[in-house]
Amino acid sequence: MPELYHFCRWLQHTAFGTEISESLWLFPFVETIHIWGIILLVGTTGVLDLRLLGLILPNQRVSDLHHRLIRWTWTGFAVMFTTGSLMFASEAAKMYVNGAFRFKMLLIVLAGLNALVFELTAFRNVANWDDSPKTPVGAKFAACFSLIAWVGVIAAGRWIAYW
Ligand code: HEM
Repeated sequence: MPELYHFCRWLQHTAFGTEISESLWLFPFVETIHIWGIILLVGTTGVLDLRLLGLILPNQRVSDLHHRLIRWTWTGFAVMFTTGSLMFASEAAKMYVNGAFRFKMLLIVLAGLNALVFELTAFRNVANWDDSPKTPVGAKFAACFSLIAWVGVIAAGRWIAYW
């Protein structure tokens, strides 16, 4: 896919890309917000996953917890996507050949698909198990996959600088 590589080289050398990469404070500032965004995104998905595994808040209705957390999860994802795209723009050609970055993007897609399947299957009949500390196998599987995938995204993100 040389076209994608040429696009990444073009993006990295735009005034926008070089402004971020050559600034003394802009990239670290954006990366700090990127790391802060993990609290919102992975923190809120983590709380729901631990409830689905019956490890915390056993008396908390799953639908209530989901309703209260989901806006913060999406806010966190918006923060990660925006700050990640800014950092990507400043070093796109470098990221294109970075295996850790590619693995991280794959895990983000898989984590998203897992959440979508959960919403369309187990969570659709949450009324049947909402009050019970015990949750269906499908919900437990989704929770385990989510926890492992997001920890993997964070580890791959950290690994980028060492690849
Ligand atoms: C959605 C969840 C995401 C999580 C949990 C996440 C997590 C991380 C972590 C932990 C780091 C390392 C920070 C450090 O070493 O100081 C990082 C760096 C980075 N992330 Fe993300 N990230 C996410 C999404 C994205 C997205 C969507 C993009 C691109 C579109 C992206 C692009 C980057 C880049 C370019 C770096 C900087 C690598 C470097 O140090 O040069 N991230 N991310």
